[in-house]
Amino acid sequence: MTDLPHVPRTTTGPLFADSGLKLALFGLNVTSPGAVTTSADRHEIDWDRDLDLALQAEQAGFEAVIPFARWRGFEGRTNPWGQSFDAFTWAAAVAARTSRISIFATAHCLTLSPVIVAKQIATLDAISHGRVGLNVVAGWFAKELAMFGAATLDHDARYAYTQEWLGVVLRLWAGEEFDHRGEWLDVVGGYSRPGPLQQPHPPIMNAAFSARGHEFATRHADLSFVSAFDLESVRTKVGEIRRMAAEAGRTQSVWIAASLVCADTDDEARALVRRWAEVDADEQAVANAIEWTMGGTGMPAEQHRQLAGAVASTMAGYPLIGAPDTIADQLARLRDAGIDGVALTMMDYSTGVTRFIDEVLPRLEEDGTRRT
Ligand SMILES: Cc1cc2nc3c(=O)[nH]c(=O)nc-3n(C[C@H](O)[C@H](O)[C@H](O)COP(=O)(O)O)c2cc1C
Repeated sequence: MTDLPHVPRTTTGPLFADSGLKLALFGLNVTSPGAVTTSADRHEIDWDRDLDLALQAEQAGFEAVIPFARWRGFEGRTNPWGQSFDAFTWAAAVAARTSRISIFATAHCLTLSPVIVAKQIATLDAISHGRVGLNVVAGWFAKELAMFGAATLDHDARYAYTQEWLGVVLRLWAGEEFDHRGEWLDVVGGYSRPGPLQQPHPPIMNAAFSARGHEFATRHADLSFVSAFDLESVRTKVGEIRRMAAEAGRTQSVWIAASLVCADTDDEARALVRRWAEVDADEQAVANAIEWTMGGTGMPAEQHRQLAGAVASTMAGYPLIGAPDTIADQLARLRDAGIDGVALTMMDYSTGVTRFIDEVLPRLEEDGTRRT
């Protein structure tokens, strides 16, 4: 496997500041990012409205927006994620219209040349005056990757590929001119100028959940993610990530993707989740999501049933469900469990973002969970 060039990690900028729990708005550029239901409230993409939401988030002090890289959906009746705007062009337009928030662009490394992505990110860094980050995805469901003729590598080989791919990006950003003949990539006379504004390089995110993925993330990314449904598992997984990073001589910003369901009371929020899971679920799309992205076949029936409810109602994000006080308390507990940042999805962003900003954010600032 090709070793990455030794490049110091990125630790500067608002994403890494000592300001408590960081917040990102996640998935605005795809339909139904945070749930798999037929509910009329589910998110549809609309550029003008979604830009407004990104601007609201920036104004309120959110640290980042994170688009999905998505090429097809989970079919069924509503085809969740089936409509999406390209993550890079979306990020460029958001970068041009904002002034403070960080913007990630998400690359499926198996589908894109590292030479193109190095230049796209350097261009985005210029447009945003140093606010872009790169989310590297080692590839997700086979049906999607098959569109690119890229579905033949098994899971762990995809991370080895991504490691080689990222090595090329880092050398290009460092301004090297080089030939690279690797296991998968041939780059003859590699060259890319200008480099990114952020030095040593823009922040690199990797949101793997598997052991192999976490090994990659803790060695090569600046931000990594854990996946869990309860606080104890969050705490354990964060500890594990920090231990793996320390073994590699690094530190790590550890985030979690969470699904926000905020209502007037806890009971109302729980009732919404129950309705999405039990009445409104797009069952075929839920089954496809579990089969295609989580290896549903062979899962014990009870685990499959529970996961189906979580996917339908919250796309299996960490559940932030309740009245504003409860949500603020849950976020404070995530912070206590070692989480540095939360990437939020929600059913209906138009009402959800406003409510979060008006009713949850002030509580987080009051109790010191975050400082804007
Ligand atoms: C915050 C976050 C963002 C992600 N963004 C994308 C994305 O845009 N496109 C995609 O195909 N996968 C995305 N993923 C999936 C991960 O990159 C990864 O493939 C998945 O969690 C499976 O991990 P594993 O490869 O370790 O099994 C995202 C996951 C999270 C938590």
